Amino acid sequence: MRRRFDPSGPLKGTLAAPADKSLSHRAALLAAMTSDPVRVTGYLDAADTNSTLAAVEALGSLVDRGSDALTIRGTGLRAAAPADGVIDVGNAGTLMRLLPGWLAGQPDGSWTLDGDESIRRRPVDRIAEPLRRMGARLDAREDRFAPFTVTGSPLEGIDYALPVASAQIKSCVLLAGLLANGETAVIEPEPSRDHTERLLLRCGVTVERDGPRIAVCPQDELELRDLHVPGDPSSAAFHVAAAVLVPGSRIVIEGMAANWTRVGFLRILERMGAVLVGELEPAGAPLSPEEPVTELDVVHGTLSGTTVEAAEVPLAIDELPLVALLGCFAEGETVVRGAQELRVKETDRIATVVDGLRGLGAELEATADGFVVQGTGGLRGGTIASHGDHRLAMLGAVAGLASREGVEVDGMEAAAVSYPGFEADLASLQG
Ligand code: S3P
Repeated sequence: MRRRFDPSGPLKGTLAAPADKSLSHRAALLAAMTSDPVRVTGYLDAADTNSTLAAVEALGSLVDRGSDALTIRGTGLRAAAPADGVIDVGNAGTLMRLLPGWLAGQPDGSWTLDGDESIRRRPVDRIAEPLRRMGARLDAREDRFAPFTVTGSPLEGIDYALPVASAQIKSCVLLAGLLANGETAVIEPEPSRDHTERLLLRCGVTVERDGPRIAVCPQDELELRDLHVPGDPSSAAFHVAAAVLVPGSRIVIEGMAANWTRVGFLRILERMGAVLVGELEPAGAPLSPEEPVTELDVVHGTLSGTTVEAAEVPLAIDELPLVALLGCFAEGETVVRGAQELRVKETDRIATVVDGLRGLGAELEATADGFVVQGTGGLRGGTIASHGDHRLAMLGAVAGLASREGVEVDGMEAAAVSYPGFEADLASLQG
């Protein structure tokens, strides 16, 4: 589906960000692991998170899709049901990496996971390695890719130093740790999003964080009370960027998650000179079961280039394509380093962002672990392909609003992976 985004007048208004994708996946998975019904409000209704609901249903949970809440009746921690056929994770990397952590420790059974063309290019050896060390069986195509089969086995706790700062690997190992003998710990090279740790605390699990080391102990069962999924800062980031770039704009995002491990993009944006008003959780805040929420007030402003270093990357990983776009409008050079993980996202986002923005007239170069953007104060426009990547489609739309000649996005339907209402929400801000 092709869509055209013309240069826009000021964006104005208030918007509730769509529900958080990371938290929705985790809410469904943890609810499936409990045996009492869990009522979830604000669950994200998008392709990725619907794959997770279908997966937990395939594993024996009942999902009641009410008009204002979902009720998930899980199976309990050790009773995932045999699935009838392959579990289809669709495009959802988070589902593909987290679910095997739970399945690996089941007393019996074996489950095969597969997904779309993009998911089949994304590595699973990163979870196979620690799970095998714990005693699990995981057989993957070429030992690295979906489709792959997880066979439930008795697990032993391990201390695992993560080779990359990835919340998905961390979460997979911690979930397996709930079913293992003895303590399981992960050591993170840099902090990454901590929603799993917070939700486990809410489930009554003792989660100990000591510097970069996070540990859990085996559990008999989990107890999760009702929960509300706040707005997604990664989805809100597209509107925030549009408001900063389009002269005369002022918007407010309501109900957005302000967890410090998710708002790295806003810190980068502030450093570039943007004026944002909101209550973001202070960096390094002690681990708590709460997910703080804020209102964010954003105005248009001029930007200067900045350098994003490796330690900031996991806190802004999904928003780095937007940093490239903002860099085109900033004064001076914008550099992102230590972001080689972008190469294994829904697309190789170093290549697709650099090629895509170049096609719109931007001056930027790919590096092995990021990109270097020369700010030229604006962007001509043209055509950009999403390559089926939701964040690339939405990036193209924002680029169009801020460009001189408009942008045509080829493959706009990809936005529905995380944000089906994106175009309507953006249009609502254009008055
Ligand atoms: C996610 C973690 C990140 C992120 C992805 C969602 C999660 O991936 O890019 O969109 O929900 O845990 P990595 O953990 O692989 O960096």
